[in-house]
Amino acid sequence: MTGAVRIDGKAAAAAVLGRVAEETARLVAETGVVPGLAVVIVGEDPASQVYVASKAKRAEECGFRSFRHALSAETSEADLLALVARLNADPAVHGILVQLPLPRHISDAAVIRAIDPDKDVDGFHPVNVGRLAAGQTAEAFVPCTPAGAMIMVRDVLGSDLSGLEAVVVGRSNIVGKPMAQLLLAANATVTIAHSRTKDLPAVCRRADVLVAAVGRPEMIRGDWIKPGAVVIDVGINRLPPEPGSEKGKGRLVGDVAFDEAMAVARAVTPVPGGVGLMTVALLMANTLRSAARAAG
Ligand code: GUN
Repeated sequence: MTGAVRIDGKAAAAAVLGRVAEETARLVAETGVVPGLAVVIVGEDPASQVYVASKAKRAEECGFRSFRHALSAETSEADLLALVARLNADPAVHGILVQLPLPRHISDAAVIRAIDPDKDVDGFHPVNVGRLAAGQTAEAFVPCTPAGAMIMVRDVLGSDLSGLEAVVVGRSNIVGKPMAQLLLAANATVTIAHSRTKDLPAVCRRADVLVAAVGRPEMIRGDWIKPGAVVIDVGINRLPPEPGSEKGKGRLVGDVAFDEAMAVARAVTPVPGGVGLMTVALLMANTLRSAARAAG
């Protein structure tokens, strides 16, 4: 047996969603403004369909209006940009999320740039990236996955990480880079490691807070983890199906070898049931914040 805490993503997400639902009811009662979230999906990627359905469902549970736009995989970039422009102009829409990845003939960057930064509840627009980098967190929409991961870190360690080493493995715009910014804002000493880092296990072993966002199943082993570290696993990887498996689907695992991590760490997020649930919850929190701003 181990003494590590298995961080409960379901409970953490329920706490955020409960607050959002409560504050939404108050906003509606006081101002008549109902938060509106528009979710746009292009094409039929099955994983994206699942994510988008869960976002719409959570929005409705929070008391939001949800607008779903499902476009065919052949939609042109111009047509998608025209939809974004309509959503930017629609006062009932406070948050716009265009599910990524987009089909190859559409530029993710062009679409993200077209979204009004004040409706960019994903926090991907360069204006929001800049606000976060400049420490203007009161104005920035922070990307949902790192914002959720940060709440989980805070639940264990408190909000001040002074004197602690944080290592983020992965340098994506969606997770790695904004996560590093948030850890830095909380006074941690931050390293961003990635596939070209020399002696990655040794770098990880320095971490009091280790965040894995690389998309490589169970890459981070127990002996890469400093005893007592807080380990946040952002990876969601599906293993190949085991012979004779019932649904023909492999297991979902994170970027961290969970059982090994539990034997060494102070606290670990599981996959599934960890950070993933927080992503959707923080999307609702960002949308509510946008609506509250619009209500003045
Ligand atoms: N695809 C995977 N994660 C995300 C996300 O957080 N936002 C959007 N828009 N697309 C994604």
